[in-house]
Amino acid sequence: MRIAFAGTGNINKVHAQAAKNAGLELTAVVNHKKDSMIGFGKQFNIARQYEKLEDLLNDGGVDALVVSTPNYLHSPQTIAALNAGVHVMVEKPMAMNAQEAELMCKAEKKSGAILMVAHCWRFDPDVLWLKDQSKKLGKIIRTKGIGVHAHWGPSGWFTQRKLAGGGAMADMGIHALDTARFILGDPKPISVYAKIGTYYQDFDVDDTGVIIVEWDNGATSTIESGWWQPHADGPEAATQLYGTEGFGELFPTHLELSNKKEREIDFIEPGFEFPRREHCPQSLYDDQMNYFAECINKKQTPIPGGTEGLINMKVVDAAYESSRTGKVVEVI
Ligand SMILES: NC(=O)c1ccc[n+]([C@@H]2O[C@H](COP(=O)([O-])OP(=O)(O)OC[C@H]3O[C@@H](n4cnc5c(N)ncnc54)[C@H](O)[C@@H]3O)[C@@H](O)[C@H]2O)c1
Repeated sequence: MRIAFAGTGNINKVHAQAAKNAGLELTAVVNHKKDSMIGFGKQFNIARQYEKLEDLLNDGGVDALVVSTPNYLHSPQTIAALNAGVHVMVEKPMAMNAQEAELMCKAEKKSGAILMVAHCWRFDPDVLWLKDQSKKLGKIIRTKGIGVHAHWGPSGWFTQRKLAGGGAMADMGIHALDTARFILGDPKPISVYAKIGTYYQDFDVDDTGVIIVEWDNGATSTIESGWWQPHADGPEAATQLYGTEGFGELFPTHLELSNKKEREIDFIEPGFEFPRREHCPQSLYDDQMNYFAECINKKQTPIPGGTEGLINMKVVDAAYESSRTGKVVEVI
């Protein structure tokens, strides 16, 4: 499988390493910033280098593309690649808004190529363990998820609305949102209420958010999003589950089951390292890349794909709208 990369920043270096680890053929790279592209090409031994994605697609000879550029490029680059019959894995948030995400899903349907959205926490061993064990919790009534950077935040394009679409909610809140939804079994969102604002830095995107999502399976999720917060109630994607029969948590990952007869709590601890040496290790992205390659080989629709990415974008859009209007927003 011949794979190419749009963007040569932080996360595409991790994806390129993952592709190398998976034994894929690292074929081409795109970036208008030549220095960065040359460095990336050297690091991963990629000779075909393009300043424009269109030129790469016209030349052909590529099966898949990883899109890890600023958010405003996700939709146009993904659609161009899909239209050329190239499979795409696009970073989260998949687009600037749900409208763009819909167009990407339409392009996928028309093209026959596959679209995966890199909601990486779905590949994490702690997350997979908790999802599997969560059936012991009875009915899950509520979840709490954390997508917060304490004492720091990103800079550059991430903090400009016209390039990023949104701030901490679109960047970090979406990790907590997708993790909660994945563990709950991908329910549909019904409504969203949110308070989102900018309090810690001077930019035109949000650095603080509290979001409440009502799901069609009866559960309610609260999500905390933030950059530059004075405290984080857990690392990225940390999630708590409150069920009728007990409590489950990610990071530190464990269950606390209510043993009502003995009036005791049974702890189930899988023994995952916490705190982790690296919270987002290379192995997480290796597993994600292996799954992308597997979906291409088996001609299988990925989960997380356009459907999951679009639902997340609808919740993000609804959260911003709710915060703007002060009203609960129904998600259609
Ligand atoms: N899932 C995760 O764990 C994770 C982690 C980090 C970032 N991300 C996401 O990945 C995306 C990229 O983030 P990043 O941290 O790597 O950002 P970055 O700023 O480090 O990298 C962006 C890259 O895109 C390049 N670029 C800009 N315009 C381009 C164009 N027209 N064509 C090709 N390349 C272009 C930039 O030069 C840069 O190399 C974002 O959407 C971000 O939310 C996800």
